[in-house]
Amino acid sequence: MDKYAVFGNPIKHSKSPAIHAQFAKQSQQQLEYEAILAPVDAFVQTVSTFFAEGGSGANVTLPFKEQAFSFANTLTERAKLAGAVNTLIKQKDGKVKGDNTDGEGLVRDLINHQVKLDSATILLIGAGGAAKGCIYPLLQAGVKQVVVSNRTESKAIQLAKQFATYGDVKGCGLDSIPDIGFDIVINSTSSSITGEVPAICASVFTSCLVAYDMFYSEQQTSFLNWVAQHNQDTQLIDGIGMLVEQAAEAFYQWRGVRPDTSKTSKLIRG
Ligand code: ATR
Repeated sequence: MDKYAVFGNPIKHSKSPAIHAQFAKQSQQQLEYEAILAPVDAFVQTVSTFFAEGGSGANVTLPFKEQAFSFANTLTERAKLAGAVNTLIKQKDGKVKGDNTDGEGLVRDLINHQVKLDSATILLIGAGGAAKGCIYPLLQAGVKQVVVSNRTESKAIQLAKQFATYGDVKGCGLDSIPDIGFDIVINSTSSSITGEVPAICASVFTSCLVAYDMFYSEQQTSFLNWVAQHNQDTQLIDGIGMLVEQAAEAFYQWRGVRPDTSKTSKLIRG
């Protein structure tokens, strides 16, 4: 049976095995998928052994996405632009291709929620790996402008510069966000993990239709709670659907079959 796995550290709480088991069942694909804890200093060794022993593909999560980027023999365009790999695909010639499905997962989840991306103006908070992976897919989806705003302003400006050839992308600090009426505000920072909220002025939500937090938790995230306090009409979406959709895109790259994701988020959220 074809073998797949997700590599990370920690990995115990990963929802990927449950998501892929659901996809396999629903699309009648025979495969094994397990979670593998790679030692922090031995990712390459662990993943190499997996492929040498017949592994067909892998997902890669924190903190190994950059190492997976270096490990891959070839890279997709979107992985090159993200500078990180979350999906490894064993090719017929034995080489391993690196892909990044995170941004596609975000775009698909927004579309699933009937969010109009064509000509939209987006405020993207944060300038780490999560932000970097989604700028190109958002531009490809027809977004008019992305303003990247980060606590450390220089990182936002640097990121915007990197993507300026692909569309209208600007960078700024959290205290210098232009007042242009954003349609969609996306939180890509890790602030919700600790229950914090990025220090931005709540007036950015005045005309905001959708607030998206890439993080998710059992309760509504601190970021989405905060948005709800300032604009009750803003549609609130957390990152569970993005998690499911990035997995579905990886499944598609491995198996050539696109799973039906419509019920997965509900099952996985538990
Ligand atoms: P990831 O790869 O998940 O994006 P990362 O590269 O560590 O993680 O980046 C974390 C992002 O969250 C950064 O943009 C960080 O801002 P800084 O670059 O200024 O460090 C942002 N971040 C984390 N906690 C934050 C907080 N409490 N308020 C605002 N931004 C925060």
